[in-house]
Amino acid sequence: MTMAPAPSTSQSFGKKLYEGKAKIIYATDDPAVLLTYFKDDATAFNAQKKGQIVDKGKINCAISTYLFQRLTAAGLETHWLETTGDRTMLVKALDIIPLEVVVRNLAAGSLCKQTGLPLGQRLEPSLVEFYYKNDALGDPLLTGDRIRALALASEEQIDTLRRLALNINQVLTDFFMGCAITLVDFKLEFGIDTQGQILLGDEISPDTCRLWDQATDDEAGRVLDKDRFRQDLGQVEAAYQRVLDKVVAQSTKN
Ligand code: TMP
Ligand code: ASP
Repeated sequence: MTMAPAPSTSQSFGKKLYEGKAKIIYATDDPAVLLTYFKDDATAFNAQKKGQIVDKGKINCAISTYLFQRLTAAGLETHWLETTGDRTMLVKALDIIPLEVVVRNLAAGSLCKQTGLPLGQRLEPSLVEFYYKNDALGDPLLTGDRIRALALASEEQIDTLRRLALNINQVLTDFFMGCAITLVDFKLEFGIDTQGQILLGDEISPDTCRLWDQATDDEAGRVLDKDRFRQDLGQVEAAYQRVLDKVVAQSTKN
């Protein structure tokens, strides 16, 4: 499958609708379509740590494009429509469900911190967790009862999100395995389109995934994701570029 992102083109921007920590969303002439612009800004720990990762916006736009295309090819629908420049993509407008859906294949990050599970322990079956997408509250971990109490999603929607997240995990885990990268965990966001269908939104990139290079067992050396920024491991740009290079190579292979 060879589907390179489109080269940089001059892009007309409509009204700015929303600026997040890593992306800006603009309106287009079609209310059902939005333009996403990927920034180089990086934050961690609920924006307590701020910085820039040079060309991150370009790299994440390209990686997200390849991965959205891969999911689409596997029959999993996403909001992605077209990549129009090196930092911009057109996406379907979604009514975002205020849940961050995290899938974990190996223990890392907050799971280790909160439970004492050792870093790298395989989780079988994979965990699917729901966090409240609410910066003011620090995106807390939710329970099924809390999701119900807050009326964030219906029972049926929660089942759909869990099923979609696990299906996406299967496709991405297999894809990254072909890149000799272990998909440790990742965060997804979903929304409802104008037809009432739940689609994957946001991005899939080293900002939102933990990715470990299988070429080394070294605990710091294997990290190819935003943990390099979170933990001040250095070589952040090089790690993101390495992921992109591997994703491109794997996408052009089959
Ligand atoms: P965590 O271990 O810190 O809970 O993170 C789990 C996964 O979710 C990891 O791949 C990083 C990703 N993530 C985000 O994309 N955004 C966030 O705000 C957080 C906290 C994690
Ligand atoms: N994106 C999050 C933030 O700044 C945290 C993270 O990715 O670690 O707040």
